[in-house]
Amino acid sequence: MSFEPTIVGFLCNWCSYTGADLAGTSRIHYAPNVRVIRVMCTARIDPTFVLKALHDGADGVLICGCHPGDCHYSEGNYKMMRRYPLLKKMLADYGIDEARVRLEWVSASEGQRFADIVDDMTQRVRELGPSPIKEGLARDMAER
Ligand code: FES
Repeated sequence: MSFEPTIVGFLCNWCSYTGADLAGTSRIHYAPNVRVIRVMCTARIDPTFVLKALHDGADGVLICGCHPGDCHYSEGNYKMMRRYPLLKKMLADYGIDEARVRLEWVSASEGQRFADIVDDMTQRVRELGPSPIKEGLARDMAER
């Protein structure tokens, strides 16, 4: 049986969530692996949210926000853009492949782009296999 990853998707309300909604209302077919969490802006996404999602069983985390210059709070996505390299460094420190976390810009009119990103990320995480955190926790539980 092939491995089907669980991916947590943090989507900003104003662009990416609407883009995801457009993908749905346009009946675009894409991988059903992303569990969406709507946030008002990517600036709201504390790096600990990503680490918690991975700790709690996600195999990957997708962050989507408005394109640079289009953030509805002026510069929230620039804040996310600056946090992202730090987040990647934290992942490396924990031994987590950085390909498990991805930041993308998706506008409200880019339903197809959202679907393509989800398909691509799902395939990449599928190739990486289950999160080592999930396997480590399962091993710890079995040893208790
Ligand atoms: S409102 Fe979309 S990234 Fe800020």
